Amino acid sequence: MDVKTYPVPESYAAAAHIDEEKYNDLYAQSLADPEEFWGAVGHRLDWMTPYTSVKDVSFAKEDLHINWYKDGTLNASVNCIDRHLPDRADQTAIIFEGDEPSSSLHITYQTLYEKVCRFANILRARGVKKGDRVTIYMPMIQQAVYAMLACARIGAVHSVVFGGFSPDALAGRIKDCDSHVVITADQGIRGGRAVPLKANVDEALNHEGTDVDTVIVVRHSGARVQMQEGRDIWYQDEAEKYPAECEPEEMNAEDPLFILYTSGSTGTPKGVLHTTGGYLVYASLTHELVFDYKDGEVYWCTADVGWVTGHSYIVYGPLANGATTLVFEGVPTYPDASRFWQVCDKHQVNIFYTAPTALRALMGSGDDYVTACDLSSLRILGTVGEPINPEAWNWYHRVVGKETCPIVDTWWQTETGGMMITPLPGATALKPGSATKPFFGIQPQLVDSEGVVLEGPAEGNLVIADSWPGQMRTVYGDHDRFIMTYFSTYDGKYFTGDGCRRDEDGYYWITGRVDDVINVSGHRMGTAEVESALVAHELVAEAAVVGYPHDIKGQGIYAYVTLMAEIEGSDDLRADLKKWIRHEIGPIAQPDKIQFAQGLPKTRSGKIMRRILRKVAANEHDSLGDISTLADPSVVKDIIQNRRNR
Ligand code: WT7
Repeated sequence: MDVKTYPVPESYAAAAHIDEEKYNDLYAQSLADPEEFWGAVGHRLDWMTPYTSVKDVSFAKEDLHINWYKDGTLNASVNCIDRHLPDRADQTAIIFEGDEPSSSLHITYQTLYEKVCRFANILRARGVKKGDRVTIYMPMIQQAVYAMLACARIGAVHSVVFGGFSPDALAGRIKDCDSHVVITADQGIRGGRAVPLKANVDEALNHEGTDVDTVIVVRHSGARVQMQEGRDIWYQDEAEKYPAECEPEEMNAEDPLFILYTSGSTGTPKGVLHTTGGYLVYASLTHELVFDYKDGEVYWCTADVGWVTGHSYIVYGPLANGATTLVFEGVPTYPDASRFWQVCDKHQVNIFYTAPTALRALMGSGDDYVTACDLSSLRILGTVGEPINPEAWNWYHRVVGKETCPIVDTWWQTETGGMMITPLPGATALKPGSATKPFFGIQPQLVDSEGVVLEGPAEGNLVIADSWPGQMRTVYGDHDRFIMTYFSTYDGKYFTGDGCRRDEDGYYWITGRVDDVINVSGHRMGTAEVESALVAHELVAEAAVVGYPHDIKGQGIYAYVTLMAEIEGSDDLRADLKKWIRHEIGPIAQPDKIQFAQGLPKTRSGKIMRRILRKVAANEHDSLGDISTLADPSVVKDIIQNRRNR
């Protein structure tokens, strides 16, 4: 394959934190002596008790343990706020850009300090202690960041639930980690439309098994909401009652910082648990080096704090580095498809980090929306969440970056805490569609299905051979599941669930998930989750869900459904099922296509043959492969005949 390579622009190489030579040296060093490398890097944080131990890790299944800086103590909020105050009290920490272009706000580090302390005091007054779990269900507003850092300040473990999830999904997550406190807002506002967050919380808390005694409500849209006496309190009213300082809790490096739920190939979403020291070291180092962040720059990551990208690269990484981070409430297309670029001009954004799906959607609206803006403040561009197709990469590079801004295509996962395979702007020549090379300390390997390590140019399953500080430590409440999911497929290695190719230059090309996880607009969706929601509908007998190629979303959701006896499929029922899924999980899980089938293709032992369903969904049914092991081959004919094009 002929791929164009984009060399590092000379001006970038000269001025960057890391150039090619330095990358090669440091990368070699980081693998040769991880203790030395990460021991030195750890000093970028302020520790209450300095660590003497750096790395204490075994990936062996029988003896799995992962500890970084394990005898050090620190507080994440102190590292993100207090320690910057001597130099940066008046510097903007957060730029808030509201859904309406007329609303924006600058929050200094001093103000951030005061807001977070007051918030932390509210939590303490409601009885929240170190180790308690607090669920945060918020729009993209500055108070979401205050809430996270307030938890960190008192050692509470936050679990942010994306505001697009339904009351049912929220209830499941509240129960799983046994939160007694929920932080929310009256409403969120996205693209001019209200999202009834408080009402959703009320509905979630009606679920059996939730045990919440405090709901802290941020007044945002001003809409009238129900407040339950004794349980619900207004954030703004409470905050005034408490001092603007709050003694931080001293946390061990390995104490939990947060839980974040993410979909897996089976079962309910997993509570990915990250700890304090290693996570913060890793998030801050990657933020500084991958974006080549320099003091005073304005940095914008368009993700939502409901996802890990928001945790590591809107909140913890940038704030630990004393950066100015932009928090955007709205959507790329409101008021029109120019919004991202207008915001870049308005706030003179230097570094811009977004998802390929957004770029593909904006690319479809035409170049005029971009070229109408100046964009000369932009210096570095980034992408995350899914493979970026070369067309979108080239458009981003040419139309947005005016062929001068390097694009960092960063591969990582909720589980990895931070970027793993990624270019560095001053060091790495770019190939559109490749996440390029491993970050310091990261040892990617490709293995075949037997676990044999493949050398040189090859394609296989992507594993990571040794630990890095930002890695997740367990699945909350289910350590066996952690071991099973990540360390049991290939002995002694972390299994990513991704397929990957390595080319002759040692560049990595992620090819997508190799498990039953689909990536919809950069969001991870477990097929099993959508299936179990579908079969919970009274008219559905069986369901199988697969991903298929989608121009904008990367992958779309294709559901095959068999109905209860005597029930006929119809467009109305399709619409009902979509609505049902929105209610059970949320809009992001709504199938793009629903096909009613007589039966699903199964092996004689009753296992659904997803390979066949994937092929049909992708309109590749000429290459179905071997179907001789099917219990009833006629099912396939029916499925092909009734394939849905729309
Ligand atoms: C999965 C992780 C990491 C934050 C956002 C998603 C896919 C992620 C890339 C990329 C190709 C990518 C992988 C990965 N992915 N970034 N740059 N190129 N694929 O986090 O929800 O945990 O999903 O997203 O398949 O396993 P996540």
